[in-house]
Amino acid sequence: MFAPLSESIIGRARKQGLIEINLVNLRDYTHDRRGTVDDVPYGGGPGMLMKPEPLFEAVEALRTPESLVVLTGPRGKRFDQTTARDLTRQSHIILICGHYEGVDERVREGLTDLEVSIGDYVLTNGNLAAMVIVDAVTRLLPGVLGCDESSADESFSAGLLEYPQYTRPAEFRGMSVPEVLLSGNHAEIAAWRKRQAQELTRRLRPDLLSEKEN
Ligand code: ADE
Repeated sequence: MFAPLSESIIGRARKQGLIEINLVNLRDYTHDRRGTVDDVPYGGGPGMLMKPEPLFEAVEALRTPESLVVLTGPRGKRFDQTTARDLTRQSHIILICGHYEGVDERVREGLTDLEVSIGDYVLTNGNLAAMVIVDAVTRLLPGVLGCDESSADESFSAGLLEYPQYTRPAEFRGMSVPEVLLSGNHAEIAAWRKRQAQELTRRLRPDLLSEKEN
């Protein structure tokens, strides 16, 4: 399931030692033969919950004094570019992927520093959410993106969506590249891009502009 973390930019960052990612199987922290990590909820109700003991044992075995323990789940703080940037300042993050109907509440109370949701929808488990977080954070680490892929100018970097971009050919199926981009006038290009970013954001994501004002 976690194959994407070995591919492409994230895989390369790991090989270069820019980030270390370790996958931990919760069943290694169980003591019964079946490796039970879930159980029925007290009080009844549908589905299974993740038991507290394997999660506590795993985190206690893995944590360092610097660790930040992050639980993935739909009730968490909405993950965004600001949170991604904040997480780059952590030296060690333990991501707990919720499964089944959720986790025993004591995992939140006794183990979790931060609960993060990647959006207002429910996934079957937190694995994809954890990969989204790892991806968004890793690409911001120094050296992970080359100049070609730089994260300085992209969407959200200034609280705005990114301006439209074009590559060759200058004319394609009747659609042409805006004249200003062919002009070689860097000041005019920069001004055009800024205007475009503002207009796009106003049209597609006005909520980002009101967030900036607050
Ligand atoms: N697990 C299930 N749904 C999730 C979501 N929206 N975000 C993070 N983890 C989840």
